Amino acid sequence: MAEVPVIAIDGPSGSGKGTVAAEIARRLGLRVLDSGALYRLAAFAARRAGVPLDDADGVARIAAGLPVEFRDGRVLLDGEDVTLAIRTETAGNDASKVAVLPQVRQALLQWQRDQARPPGLVADGRDMGTVVFPDAPVKIFLDASAGERARRRHKQLMEQGVDVKLSDLVAEIEARDARDRNRSVAPLKPAPDALVIDSTGMSVDEVVEKILQAAQPSVFSG
Ligand code: DC
Repeated sequence: MAEVPVIAIDGPSGSGKGTVAAEIARRLGLRVLDSGALYRLAAFAARRAGVPLDDADGVARIAAGLPVEFRDGRVLLDGEDVTLAIRTETAGNDASKVAVLPQVRQALLQWQRDQARPPGLVADGRDMGTVVFPDAPVKIFLDASAGERARRRHKQLMEQGVDVKLSDLVAEIEARDARDRNRSVAPLKPAPDALVIDSTGMSVDEVVEKILQAAQPSVFSG
């Protein structure tokens, strides 16, 4: 693995990982890896190809050859802009389903590791600190209560004009958490050397500052 600084940020859905990771990458001038997007894309592409989401080898074959490009904040699949299409609740649940399949995780592993290139990487997901970048000098586990995560998601969806019931979101988030935490391969859990931050009641800026402080000695030591 390349010797570049890697900041691994893991946590459950809706914990704010993506927003925080993007802001840290911007401030430090590092690259960013949204690993969840890969699982979303694998499931999305499988559905399109008519491959059942529990067909481990079929989905893995698709995951291994994903024609994906991340460009200017957009996600392109074979040249088509699927940025919004992979952000729906269904796409998230589909992603969580294919993410339990070891073959799919294996198919996506090297591509993720290859993103650790100069000047360095901020990677967010569920297993960044435990499996993909076990030697990352900075590991963060970002948590928040299920209620708070559902409220954040609800606000986001309402702003986009999508009307959903908060109670439905809480139930969905809890179901997805249970699947992500209880799977046998690369379950969602803090790495033993991760700094656990509970962001309930914290602003994005407060979380970013806390992570930058934690990253200070490793990432800026030159
Ligand atoms: O972070 P996200 O909500 O976009 O992730 C969607 C799903 O993908 C999530 O429920 C579990 C899976 N995932 C994973 O298993 N490992 C990762 N590193 C990232 C996401």
